[in-house]
Amino acid sequence: MRVLHVVGARPNYMKVAPVMAEMAKYPDLFQQILVHTGQHYDVNMSDVFFEELGLPTPDEYLGVGSGTHAEQTARVMLTFEPVLVRHKPDLVMVVGDVNSTLACALVAAKRGIPVAHVEAGLRSGDRSMPEEINRVLTDQISDLLFTTCSDADENLRREGITPEKVHFVGNVMIDSLVRLLPAALRRDTLARVGVEARNYVLVTLHRPANVDTPDTLFEILEGLREATQFCRIVFPVHPRTVQRIPEAWKAKVNGCLVLTEPLGYLDFLRLMVDALAVVTDSGGLQEETTYLGVPCLTVRPNTERPVTITEGTNRLVPARRDALVAALKDAIGDCRRPKRPPELWDGKSAKRIAAVLGTC
Ligand code: UD1
Repeated sequence: MRVLHVVGARPNYMKVAPVMAEMAKYPDLFQQILVHTGQHYDVNMSDVFFEELGLPTPDEYLGVGSGTHAEQTARVMLTFEPVLVRHKPDLVMVVGDVNSTLACALVAAKRGIPVAHVEAGLRSGDRSMPEEINRVLTDQISDLLFTTCSDADENLRREGITPEKVHFVGNVMIDSLVRLLPAALRRDTLARVGVEARNYVLVTLHRPANVDTPDTLFEILEGLREATQFCRIVFPVHPRTVQRIPEAWKAKVNGCLVLTEPLGYLDFLRLMVDALAVVTDSGGLQEETTYLGVPCLTVRPNTERPVTITEGTNRLVPARRDALVAALKDAIGDCRRPKRPPELWDGKSAKRIAAVLGTC
């Protein structure tokens, strides 16, 4: 079977790496092609992840870059179609919910090539999030849907997707975490950033709903500034966010809050392990903190990953400074919950995916 994998943006790499590594063990069964759409292109949003996760050099790089949703999605579609024609895959495998995921799934489906979606069935119910549109549409046109939790299976059933197409395999992102945790623990990231273990809060923010509206972003930033009175903060800043943080705020927090460039996979994992808490609007971090048993405050009104709340360490917090400060005080005072990851988040999800494909 000739399988074409698509990566485009930062959260994709750690999901594709374990699947490709597992399938590479069976060269008689699988031939693999890797396409990078170039949705993310900076060294620290892309190259460093390839190196650390051991991903092969992409066979095709589409170089689509940034733009509006329509521009980005359209550019991926236009440049991806000739790649499909050239490589003639038997299956296109997409992961997650970024624009590249939907764009490539759509091109493949229209050309009659079966699509497999890894991390299918997650739903926030919030159509104002671009990712929710990408999730719903990708799942509708996929032939094989690999899910991370049983509520995803239930969401797909409700949307009329035949259960035979759906395979509950667990969480491939946790496969990467399990494999690379020992390497992360050997890193001197804390010393380099200038913090001590269990003495800082780790922050990431990049959702349009939080960072594109100046008033909302300011509420969150001011909450973080107030929190520096009782904890240290490390904030690796996403390129979307860095353009929007006011210089005056940066000057005010200088010395009491560490702002860094986006970090690679290993450095970020190292910081997550010993954080007092994580404040984020990312999807993946809600899952990684649940696995690690680190309290997570998700600055969003909803989540497509409710299992991280019901079984994990996640909690939703409104984008208001007082709410954020109060939640942080609580989270820091909280002793860690015992580490009992959700079902099948065990580092073996890629094996299950390869096993399903092996029978197709
Ligand atoms: C995208 C995904 C989001 C994912 C996030 C992780 C969609 C709709 N969104 O959002 O689901 O959580 O990636 O990071 O697909 N930029 C750079 N260098 C880069 C990439 C982006 O400078 O390598 C800047 C550009 O100014 C760009 C902005 O960041 O306009 C946003 O990038 P984009 O890919 O549009 O969306 P993200 O916010 O990164």
